Amino acid sequence: MPGTPNPLSEMGNLDNVVVTKEERPNPSFETSALPGFKKTVQSRRAIRIFDGVPIPQDVMRDCLQDAILAPNASNLQCYEIYWVRDDAKKKRLGDLCLGQPAATTAGDIIVAVSRVDLWQTHLAKLSDIMTDGGKKPMTGPIRDYYENIIPMLMKTDRWGFHNLKRRVMFWLKSRREPTVNGPVTRADHRVYGNIQASLAAENLMLSLAAHGYESCPMSGIDGRGIARLLGLPPTAEVTMVIAAGNGTPQGLFSARTRLPLGDLVKEV
Ligand SMILES: Cc1cc2nc3c(=O)[nH]c(=O)nc-3n(C[C@H](O)[C@H](O)[C@H](O)COP(=O)(O)O)c2cc1C
Repeated sequence: MPGTPNPLSEMGNLDNVVVTKEERPNPSFETSALPGFKKTVQSRRAIRIFDGVPIPQDVMRDCLQDAILAPNASNLQCYEIYWVRDDAKKKRLGDLCLGQPAATTAGDIIVAVSRVDLWQTHLAKLSDIMTDGGKKPMTGPIRDYYENIIPMLMKTDRWGFHNLKRRVMFWLKSRREPTVNGPVTRADHRVYGNIQASLAAENLMLSLAAHGYESCPMSGIDGRGIARLLGLPPTAEVTMVIAAGNGTPQGLFSARTRLPLGDLVKEV
């Protein structure tokens, strides 16, 4: 790492990355998309009592498709989303969400899970799918990034050898130039995975809102119990549970309250 070129800055020079006009924000896109986006963001609330009726399967699948479009670090997609459909598991999930009414009355219940442990599997799959302007194998800075930088950042071992190596490398490099400071430790990797799962969860909740359904994210849960229920390996971590469905008026517990913008957003 010390003395190596920086693939992150070099990637910006790629001229074979195709972004279609439809994907790019432009004035007509803003006119058509912005009102719906605002309506969706502003209408989403945490709703805690549902009518128990499941969301139509095609709608839920559409929302899940939107969920996986969430941005994620290095596109490694280190998370999983469990749409729990089995009645017995749904019932047990209600208990494991500590009997919260959102969980016990939800039409559908979804679990967002951090899966940092899947980084190598996903990397191998991505290497198969990703192309360089249609050509395989990939070459240049992106290939370098996936073949060298990602393993350097993600590798772990029982004795903490890779953690120590990263800590020393980052420290040495930071003496000379701006550099990333993590992930170093297992805790850093846990944060990393929970970030990816949270972003997908937010996309899911916004998509549910755009489809006219309500949701409630929950982290007041027995995460380990849920992991056992879903048969997850010890390396997985339940990030949050999302209750979803048709909300009832009683499910809205309070008016929306936010701190003043200036408390949360700093212009520097
Ligand atoms: C990560 C996370 C965990 C949450 N956990 C719970 C929870 O366990 N139970 C609950 O009723 N609401 C939970 N909420 C919902 C928040 O209380 C709610 O989003 C917040 O009060 C703001 O209200 P709003 O979403 O309606 O704007 C959680 C939200 C997030 C993002």
